[in-house]
Amino acid sequence: MTKRRPLIAGNWKMHKTAQEARDFAMGFQEKVGDVTDIDMVVCAPFTALHVLKEELEESIVHIGAQNMYPEVKGAYTGEVSGPMLLDLACTYVVLGHSERREYLKEDDGFIAKKVKVALELGLIPILCVGENLALREDGKALAFVRSQVEKDLMELGPDELRKVVIAYEPIWAIGTGKTASAQDAQEMCSGIRSTLAGIAGSVAQEIRILYGGSVKSGNIADLMAQPDIDGALVGGASLEVQEFAQLIQNAR
Ligand code: 13P
Repeated sequence: MTKRRPLIAGNWKMHKTAQEARDFAMGFQEKVGDVTDIDMVVCAPFTALHVLKEELEESIVHIGAQNMYPEVKGAYTGEVSGPMLLDLACTYVVLGHSERREYLKEDDGFIAKKVKVALELGLIPILCVGENLALREDGKALAFVRSQVEKDLMELGPDELRKVVIAYEPIWAIGTGKTASAQDAQEMCSGIRSTLAGIAGSVAQEIRILYGGSVKSGNIADLMAQPDIDGALVGGASLEVQEFAQLIQNAR
């Protein structure tokens, strides 16, 4: 079986001023400077990225953004392009987060375009998928997530697909303290991998799948022990240096 390199990604969402980001970056680097067996990325608000570039560009901690517009430039007031993210030393970009799907009404067609453009520019997309509670209770979680994956990756060939990171984040587990059990998360991630196999054949074995939703230092080890979970997308627990560094140690 292909060995996939683990990835722990922090998603700060709409938290931290530039100064708070600088304080975090300085403290965090000190604590995880020796971690070479896991890829680490902090996905910050746009307004903190220049500070992270100053603090982290030379470090083993990667920088990510939380969104990107699917055009390289133009009349798109208020939007930020991929080349702008590259200029700020970003290597990753979170796309299709459920909060953007819900509050900003992003649909799969739009997200698919973002994923495609990010890859063309050399950014690694962290594509978020996940079902809400009603779908889960109806027994439709996997069918729903499978259709998200198929629609959002529709435009990609195998060489692009192998670079994509998928984050499975059940909406009912985000910020609620309710994590999916490691077994439930594994079942969904395994279903996602077989969907990927349908699209990309054996390349599916190379694609990293993260779990997200109330991941903390206390539950990461169980999740990481599952064969189809290659890491985590972490919200609340990525905001504090001590907790996020501990989570990374416990993921190893
Ligand atoms: P929490 O870890 O705060 O539940 O957030 C998960 C998430 O949405 C990460 O993208």
